[in-house]
Amino acid sequence: MLDTASNRPVLPPEIARRRTFAIISHPDAGKTTLTEKFLLYGGAIQMAGQVRAKGEARRTRSDFMKMEQDRGISVSASAMSFDFDKYRFNLVDTPGHSDFSEDTYRTLTAVDAAVMVIDGAKGVESQTQKLFEVCRLRDLPILTFCNKMDRESRDTFDIIDEIQENLAIDVTPASWPIGVGRDFLGCYDLLNDRLELMDRADRNKVAESVNIEGLDDPLLEKHIPADLLAQLREEVEMARELLPTLVPQSVLEGHMTPIWFGSAINSFGVKELMKGIGKYGPEPQVQRAEPREISPEEAKVSGFVFKVQANMDPKHRDRVAFVRMASGHFHRGMKLTHVRTKKPMAISNPVLFLAADRELAEEAWAGDIIGIPNHGQLRIGDTLTEGEALRVTGIPSFAPELLQNVRAGDPMKAKHLEKALMQFAEEGAAKVFKPMIGAGFIVGVVGALQFEVLGSRIELEYGLPVRFEQSQFTSARWVHGTKDAVEKFAQANKQHISYDNDGDVVFMTRLQWDIDRVVRDYPEIKLSATKEMM
Ligand code: G4P
Repeated sequence: MLDTASNRPVLPPEIARRRTFAIISHPDAGKTTLTEKFLLYGGAIQMAGQVRAKGEARRTRSDFMKMEQDRGISVSASAMSFDFDKYRFNLVDTPGHSDFSEDTYRTLTAVDAAVMVIDGAKGVESQTQKLFEVCRLRDLPILTFCNKMDRESRDTFDIIDEIQENLAIDVTPASWPIGVGRDFLGCYDLLNDRLELMDRADRNKVAESVNIEGLDDPLLEKHIPADLLAQLREEVEMARELLPTLVPQSVLEGHMTPIWFGSAINSFGVKELMKGIGKYGPEPQVQRAEPREISPEEAKVSGFVFKVQANMDPKHRDRVAFVRMASGHFHRGMKLTHVRTKKPMAISNPVLFLAADRELAEEAWAGDIIGIPNHGQLRIGDTLTEGEALRVTGIPSFAPELLQNVRAGDPMKAKHLEKALMQFAEEGAAKVFKPMIGAGFIVGVVGALQFEVLGSRIELEYGLPVRFEQSQFTSARWVHGTKDAVEKFAQANKQHISYDNDGDVVFMTRLQWDIDRVVRDYPEIKLSATKEMM
């Protein structure tokens, strides 16, 4: 049966009720606070204050390491499942720090929508803009939450204009704030004609909700002082005239974002946002793959790895691969094919993450995120199926922007260092290159903080002190072409050639001139700054 709006098959109810999304925001806008309220209303935690992990960007390195040591929490915060109304929400955490943008990018390949949180006083900030652009590349639907309305915030029309202009997306108000700062009373719910009143006395109390028969309803006068009510009526009239009305299909196509106003810390506006995610957010979507797309309603199970977290327990060197289920109904104990190696894998201990707890996942449906503990077989970009040779595409690896040589503090431990580096490379924490000439390794990252985290983790998890030194190179490009052409090119440019952790050939240089020279002199070779993970 086809759904008339989307022209796609109607999904089985268990799949159709799934909403898998990430929150994107600039540090400090309130992502952690909002996540916590989601979990609270989703029944995953009993009281606010239980999600200890704070916005990553505000962590110092030592905070980060502490968190790393306490990995149970940071890992369970990577993907969280909870029920709300008739929906199952899967919230995938995106690292907030810009140094981890590659990880963020990959996380966004595992979700069907994003919730964009902005600070009502600050509007669209740099990190929001960057993350938004990544979402746009994938046409991800975006729902917006304008937070901190309990504080002095900007004019509502200004905020909406700024989003429309900076992000080139239509914005439609789902609610309208009444009063600002200390006078902020609550919101008028434009989609349901309801008045939502914030309770300032109790931050965890959900807003009082009053049904209203439109803006002329005399009941409004009982709750809103005359001057604010006049302003509300005027603004809503203007908004209805000037701003687009909600078109659910445009939201699903990523051309329009509904915006809710609220205050996460006061639990205000959060439930309305959650209802909005349920109602207007997308069901699990078709997954790009080769040689064919994967549809969520397919009976056969498939999924792909978008994140690997290693050494959750340093004693056991275990790893958890985070798998987004792309189709079917998975049961614990199923045997799936690991497409890259063509080997069967019995998935006997998959885990589901419920706030701070992990639980055995007895089953999972398309759209869900499960963790699969393994000993290194599963890598980012890997696809699991019931036998068909499908490969999920669109999970890129970016050329690192910072390169450093790395050496073991103790030269006798070079082999150990290699093992540790390879593991971090597979986890996606860094790129590791082995130069064609000479000893040692070159490590590449996107942001400088990653070097520090890597150094500390190698020491902590492997007991190996390491030194990073300036590399003579500043850029790395993957070399593409026929096997012969790549080999010939490598032999002629040995000083510039390294192999990445998959054995692929990489050209390294510090001069744009060198890259231009290759483009000019080797037409049979292509250099690229991205590579598909597979
Ligand atoms: P992040 O994860 O996006 O970085 O933001 P986080 O939730 O940690 O919130 C950043 C700061 O903003 C925190 O204050 C938090 O309490 C505050 N905040 C979040 N939502 C609201 C809101 O609706 N209204 C107001 N007024 N503040 C809000 P902090 O002082 O930095 O930390 P804390 O000591 O309160 O934990």
